[in-house]
Amino acid sequence: MDKLIITGGIPLQGEIRISGAKNAALPILAATLLADGPVKVGNIPHLQDITTTMELLGRMGVELVIDECMDIEVDCSTIRELFAPYELVKSMRASILVLGPMLARFGQAVVSLPGGCAIGSRPVNLHIEGLVKMGAEIDVESGYIHAKARKLKAARLVMDLVTVTGTENLMMAATLAEGTTLIENAAREPEVVDLANCLNAMGAKISGAGSDTIAVEGVDRLNGTHYDVLPDRIESGTYLVAAAITGGHIRIKDTRPRMLETVIDKLREAGAEVVVGDEWIDLDMRGRRPCATNIRTSPYPAFPTDMQAQFTTLNVVAEGAATISETVFENRFMHVHELQRLGADIQLEGNTAFVRGVERLTAAPVMATDLRASASLVLAGLVAEGDTVVDRIYHIDRGYESIEEKLAKLGARIRRVPV
Ligand code: EPU
Repeated sequence: MDKLIITGGIPLQGEIRISGAKNAALPILAATLLADGPVKVGNIPHLQDITTTMELLGRMGVELVIDECMDIEVDCSTIRELFAPYELVKSMRASILVLGPMLARFGQAVVSLPGGCAIGSRPVNLHIEGLVKMGAEIDVESGYIHAKARKLKAARLVMDLVTVTGTENLMMAATLAEGTTLIENAAREPEVVDLANCLNAMGAKISGAGSDTIAVEGVDRLNGTHYDVLPDRIESGTYLVAAAITGGHIRIKDTRPRMLETVIDKLREAGAEVVVGDEWIDLDMRGRRPCATNIRTSPYPAFPTDMQAQFTTLNVVAEGAATISETVFENRFMHVHELQRLGADIQLEGNTAFVRGVERLTAAPVMATDLRASASLVLAGLVAEGDTVVDRIYHIDRGYESIEEKLAKLGARIRRVPV
């Protein structure tokens, strides 16, 4: 298990490129199961979760070829097993995204239930209920979802709560269903829109993605295509916070500022000067300490839960006090106890963290518990005095491409050590 060692105190400077979005690449790779012909997916980030998805598809018999541009071509014509095993699903919950496509295209699927998670209970009941409304027969037995359907039928699906992968799974299933499915109270995340765009490029008839009602007119078949994944807004936001807390000045390229409006607003509130172009964001903190800024997470377009941990770190070193409310997941404050080890002043009450900014953090060994929590610890390491050692960074490798290389390019003193 590798560790990261970060020596804090350097204001970040320079320019880096943002990678493709993990949370768009994962459903798009699952969507390739729906196509009759090969699908080429570009701008895929090099991440552990992508490797896990490739392993999952490979075990089903799907052929995957990586070309010289690192695009992945997926050909499902060789599929033999409609099965997602526990050992892969437990290491990556997004594996549940193969359920809708397999069922819609091949009429059956056996997918492990994901089980518990470090950030909340995260059930998949809404994925299952939606598919049942579309005519699937589903039994949950010995930890596995067994799903069957001769042909899925369109339905009006009113989601009890906003779920990103739930919306994606049902949208994918509906592409090959008979009739027009309506998904109401749908997730509006840019990654849902990217998936819909990819499916439409494959011949699907989806409208309304990005709004709270998505209409999917079923078609008989979907074809192969070439599709480039959109940039990662959470990776973008994480580097912007890194610059803000170190008093630095950076530019991130190959991103989409429009997907980051609430995050940019919060950074400006914290005192950052932010200038945006079509595909870049420039953040200048001019050596200043950030001001505290209250955060309340909610589904898109509100402030993303995937940026909550990073803004907790920002508030930990900010001038003033702030309240952070997490409304999407019930247990997403594991980073708080680790940040306290570095000297953070945080009180936790249920889903709310009360943070009083401190002038200095001091390095200590800390442990990553989930992807975004790990990012918040690396950020804290960038400002803490001394060498912060972040353990269990396999969580980080699931979602941040070459984080130590990108931070080093911005001048950070960071190194990976194998243990
Ligand atoms: N929920 C249910 N029942 C369901 C589905 C969801 O109760 O059937 C609840 C969840 O327990 C949670 C809430 O609904 O409290 C929202 O969860 P959602 O389903 O939207 O989360 P997800 O689809 O499992 C995706 C991202 C997460 C991100 C969330 C929220 C992917 C692969 N994952 O998860 O990303 O935090 O949406 O935006 O898209 C990450 O990248 O670090 C990450 C955790």
